Amino acid sequence: MKHIAVFASGRGSNLAAILTAIIRDRIPAKVECVISDQPSPGAFDIARQAGIPTYWAARSQFSAAEAYPRHLIQLMQNHHIDLIVLAGYLKLIPRQLVAAYPGMIMNIHPALLPNFCGKGYYGLKVHEAVIASGVKMTGVTVHFVDEHYDTGPIILQETVPVLSDDTPERLAARVLEVEHRIYPLVIKAFCEDRLVVEGRKVNWKS
Ligand code: GRF
Repeated sequence: MKHIAVFASGRGSNLAAILTAIIRDRIPAKVECVISDQPSPGAFDIARQAGIPTYWAARSQFSAAEAYPRHLIQLMQNHHIDLIVLAGYLKLIPRQLVAAYPGMIMNIHPALLPNFCGKGYYGLKVHEAVIASGVKMTGVTVHFVDEHYDTGPIILQETVPVLSDDTPERLAARVLEVEHRIYPLVIKAFCEDRLVVEGRKVNWKS
């Protein structure tokens, strides 16, 4: 049984999908806490309904630079966390936390990495850029997290066609459906110790 921390900045629909899937798909995991850089995101409401502790932790709450990552690491240790799941979390994960949890932090990105990513590419901005570029395919990427935005080893990708009359909102909605389906698949595989990382490559064991 793995202990999961979910980091979320916004509404928390991926968190809700993960909580549903843990029961439905018998994922050997429990979401132990939800962390946000925002004081009251929608994700906290979803967590509270499920009886999961929530923590608002922002860099601005700490005067010393080292205190913020230390606080996050302490929270993770208090909850015996084995896996950190970023679900719509907009802040960069401090390198100290990445170093303390190597290969144990994952993120979902609403496009096909290595494109349409990096600082500033979040929410509808991603889908606006996808449509403006004229690409015919976008999709979802789940990847491990390193100390940069969106550059860690890719675990799973699924494509979503871009339609000629798409708006960013319509495209986002179709991409989100895929997010809700594939993030639980990846979390299940991790929790069953079926993901093997070799350099940049992530291999799935059956
Ligand atoms: C999702 O599109 C996710 O890919 C991105 O932020 C959005 C979060 O949505 N990183 P939600 O808060 O899970 O509803």
